[in-house]
Amino acid sequence: MDKKIGVKILGTGSYLPEKILTNSDLEKIVDTSDEWISARTGIRERRISKSNEPTSELAYKASIKALEVANISPKQLDLIIIATITPDMFFPSTACFLQRKLGIVSIPAFDLSAACSGFVYGISVSKAFIESGLYKTILLVGADELSKITDWKDKNTCVLFGDGAGAIVFSNSQKDDDILSVFLGADGLYSDLLFLPAGGSVYPATESTVSENLHTIKMQGREVFKAAVPKMALAAEKALELSGKSINDIKIFIPHQANIRIIEAVAKKIGISMDRVFVNIHKTGNISSATTITALDEAIKAGKVCKGDIVELITFGGGFTWGAAIIRI
Ligand code: UT7
Repeated sequence: MDKKIGVKILGTGSYLPEKILTNSDLEKIVDTSDEWISARTGIRERRISKSNEPTSELAYKASIKALEVANISPKQLDLIIIATITPDMFFPSTACFLQRKLGIVSIPAFDLSAACSGFVYGISVSKAFIESGLYKTILLVGADELSKITDWKDKNTCVLFGDGAGAIVFSNSQKDDDILSVFLGADGLYSDLLFLPAGGSVYPATESTVSENLHTIKMQGREVFKAAVPKMALAAEKALELSGKSINDIKIFIPHQANIRIIEAVAKKIGISMDRVFVNIHKTGNISSATTITALDEAIKAGKVCKGDIVELITFGGGFTWGAAIIRI
């Protein structure tokens, strides 16, 4: 009988736009303060993309780096998936724009929408495709430009978000199995606590949706916070259970970077000290689908994790959606 097909991680890459927006810059835009933002969220600055730099461009820059590390050419890919909630356009998919930028044709390419959990959902989809034998070499990207769907007059939300992209290349393997487990969940009952109301089929764009600012993120922050902590802890524990690993086998935990207080509460709930948790929220803010993969790439480049180390990604986002993945670097 044929041996089970496993997944090998070939490489990661990430890209953050050059422009830095600091908390002091925000003090000039809305009634906020560096003290409030730092203390309540842990964020000090975030990156903002240019007006002529769409999500596919950040995705392209991150992908090129991941492909370089993986030491393969775009022509060797046979599937592209981008997790994003800020696509270049409704359609074609941002994955098709990325495919064009990479100079390849024919292979399938599609976007995946699961808000901040998109990248972890993408790991699950990639694992299933490779294990089934349908695709052999997959480029999975998490890319978002939340600055372009942010209400810059709303101090409750505009201090939280940023832009960026991260990419990973997976291949099939008879020897390795680097995705040890993935656990996913969702609960649509809470869809109105974190959402972007207009522009879809419920409220197609009209003059009034624009004047009422309905094309920007709306969030009931405190309610989202309360749901995020138990769901992230649950996902972290379920993925561990599924992997057959113990909490001590994990070198670092990379939680979604939405609020340092959420990260600390999750760490406490699953019983780990903060020195085992990777945090870069102070530099990036919340970049939705791009968060866990840009953090993972930074952790690898900084030598916080080495070849063979086991990492747990934990996420939570609009939907609500949540999930965790245990991977070997
Ligand atoms: O990616 C997943 C989705 N996102 C999240 O996970 C975010 C989850 N939520 C949070 O991170 C937090 O709830 C926030 C950071 C959004 C807000 O923190 P909070 O401790 O829950 O504050 P709050 O919304 O309860 O507001 C407390 C006070 C309010 O003033 P009053 O009513 O007490 O006078 C707000 O108006 O803080 C005020 N406030 C601000 N003040 C200065 C809210 N935003 C700001 C601000 N600057 N930027």
